[in-house]
Amino acid sequence: MRIDIITVSPELIKSPFEYSIIKRAIDKNLVEIHFHDLRKYALNDYGKIDDYQFGGGAGMVLMIEPIDKCISKLKAQRNYDEIIYLTPDAPTLNQQMANTLSLTENILILCGHYKGVDQRVRELLITKEISIGDYVLSGGELGAAVLCDAIIRLIPGVLGDESSALTDSFQDNLLSPPVYTRPAEYKGLEVPKILLSGNFPKIDEWRNEQALERTKKIRPDLLED
Ligand code: ADE
Repeated sequence: MRIDIITVSPELIKSPFEYSIIKRAIDKNLVEIHFHDLRKYALNDYGKIDDYQFGGGAGMVLMIEPIDKCISKLKAQRNYDEIIYLTPDAPTLNQQMANTLSLTENILILCGHYKGVDQRVRELLITKEISIGDYVLSGGELGAAVLCDAIIRLIPGVLGDESSALTDSFQDNLLSPPVYTRPAEYKGLEVPKILLSGNFPKIDEWRNEQALERTKKIRPDLLED
């Protein structure tokens, strides 16, 4: 899989790709990440990529020309399954979206900044819009890092234990059950006896019950689907 990321702050987004599971996926050639600095496609030598919004109002808007130049250049080199714009005014990222995107070959991600992008970018160039939650970040870079992490860990071969992504929270619209490790008792708090029993069908049953109970309590909305 190849992921291209267009950003005005390449340095802001690079570090999450330099550690842990994501780095290992890159080292194993399971995913390639390419960063593109939008300022290289600026309108003038001062690096102009944004302007005031028509109609007045605070905040600069990223202009369409630099973004079009950058996306057109990349599209001439390969086909993209999706061209994604990270923005708070979009459907919220969930596990199903991550699952679907992990099966693609090439995706292009545009990070918004300032007040966002000219609406015509969204109409002409973008195929999918994603928010990472109901709050506003300073730009799309952290959102893009979250999206990439959620996708990359699902690519076959990235996680050591293939089954572990399938037992994550949200894979069945359920939160994960609690987990424990040694010691079996700490400051009077004991690990549930069933987990020490070696009775694996019963352990599975207990985990399912716990997952359902937690979901009902913390995220009942997940059970509505
Ligand atoms: N850019 C700013 N806020 C965002 C959010 N919540 N999700 C994705 N991109 C964003």
